Amino acid sequence: MDNLLSKIETKTAKVAVIGLGYVGLPLAVDFAIAGFHVVGIDKNQARADATNNGQNYIRDVSETDLKTVTKNGLLNGTTSFSVLQETDAIFICVPTPLSKTKDPDVSLILHATDSIHQHLHSNQLICLESTTYPGTTRELILPRLRETGLKVGKDFSLAFSPERIDPGNSHFKLKNTPKVIGGITSTCLNLSQKLYENIVDQVVPVSSTEAAEMVKLLENTFRSVNIGLVNEMAIMAQKLGLDVWEIIHAASTKPYGFMPFYPGPGLGGHCIPVDPHYLAWKLKTLNYKARFIEMAGEINAAMPHHVVDLIARGLNRIKKSVNGSNILVIGVSYKKDIADIRESPALDIISILQAREAVISWNDPYIDDYPTTPLPRFVKDLTPSSLSAADCVVIVTDHSSYDWNFIVENSSLIVDTRNATKNVQCPQGRVLKL
Ligand SMILES: NC(=O)c1ccc[n+]([C@@H]2O[C@H](COP(=O)([O-])OP(=O)(O)OC[C@H]3O[C@@H](n4cnc5c(N)ncnc54)[C@H](O)[C@@H]3O)[C@@H](O)[C@H]2O)c1
Repeated sequence: MDNLLSKIETKTAKVAVIGLGYVGLPLAVDFAIAGFHVVGIDKNQARADATNNGQNYIRDVSETDLKTVTKNGLLNGTTSFSVLQETDAIFICVPTPLSKTKDPDVSLILHATDSIHQHLHSNQLICLESTTYPGTTRELILPRLRETGLKVGKDFSLAFSPERIDPGNSHFKLKNTPKVIGGITSTCLNLSQKLYENIVDQVVPVSSTEAAEMVKLLENTFRSVNIGLVNEMAIMAQKLGLDVWEIIHAASTKPYGFMPFYPGPGLGGHCIPVDPHYLAWKLKTLNYKARFIEMAGEINAAMPHHVVDLIARGLNRIKKSVNGSNILVIGVSYKKDIADIRESPALDIISILQAREAVISWNDPYIDDYPTTPLPRFVKDLTPSSLSAADCVVIVTDHSSYDWNFIVENSSLIVDTRNATKNVQCPQGRVLKL
């Protein structure tokens, strides 16, 4: 593998990134900015074309960087896996969803592995970044690649490095977020570490690929469990007639031993609601029940129902029923200031309300199409008339561009799941908070 090491050191190693999404595109751009020739492979022709044309479709990627690297030929997009033949390092960044029964769906990792298997040659490095259960790299990828007759740590390298992208985070990007890496052998670890050091400030080596896989699951389970805890706190505070936001704010003044988490309408995105189930599934195969994960999952998944109860309570106060009421949902992406609707709790809240025959409309400055039917009505602009036409306005996502004073002023009833109206003087009874 000395040949690969010298190619990394001289930046002549050719890099391939499989899956040009939220994780893969920033990785491909950063390697190209560092001076490597990169090819991005995506089964979606539109994404491969957009990458080739320097058209950005992931907000966290710098438009200027993408244009620079495509213009100077350092980054190309393609749908063809045959380019793997000429590459030295391959990063797998494909989605890892759950099946309907909440079991891991690693079929896209297997598909990528099959494609690599067809083109594997000596001196290649393969690194998985997709979030998955401990054991995936060694138990699924390694045996398939070994079928070629090539030896890991001698002929080729295999490693796992969990992606830590936080969409919408303008401070922590790939470069200044430490990168955890585990290799199948020490050679695999050393080579991947050398390569990553070209694009990240700090690399954190761990003892195995399993340890690296588990690090990511600890991080995301930590978030899921703490969000579950604070969501239950919100429900308990409500029953006690207390304001959970006031309690969290005051608890946060403790200078040690407390870290604030905030309640919300439910979990969204591709990571936090999904990843802990990968760990729970793996433990189930070892006859162990991951109780914290299951309980947090249950509480978080019930939050959209809790929000709908709040809406019903607010409408009841003004002698209206959910059935037939006009409900305007503000912010449908899963998180503030991003254009990602995957697993968004807004989708659940809207479908529960639709099942109860409410008339739904929605607004979101980042989203222009709605993924499920029946289609709620799209409200392009929040105006005094669009707000006052609603019997209830529900704040699901608190995008920075919203003017909360204006929204409170023009709405008759608001259910605020994010404490977005905290700095607004709210007339008595107009705003119900989670
Ligand atoms: N989005 C995040 O915030 C985030 C953060 C950390 C980790 N992750 C993990 O990273 C992985 C990728 O997530 P993402 O958010 O980038 O997904 P994404 O859906 O944004 O992008 C995945 C891309 O892979 C392509 N793709 C799918 N199957 C393919 C195949 N077989 N061959 C080639 N291309 C293929 C898709 O067309 C898509 O463009 C997942 O395991 C996810 O859990 C995501």
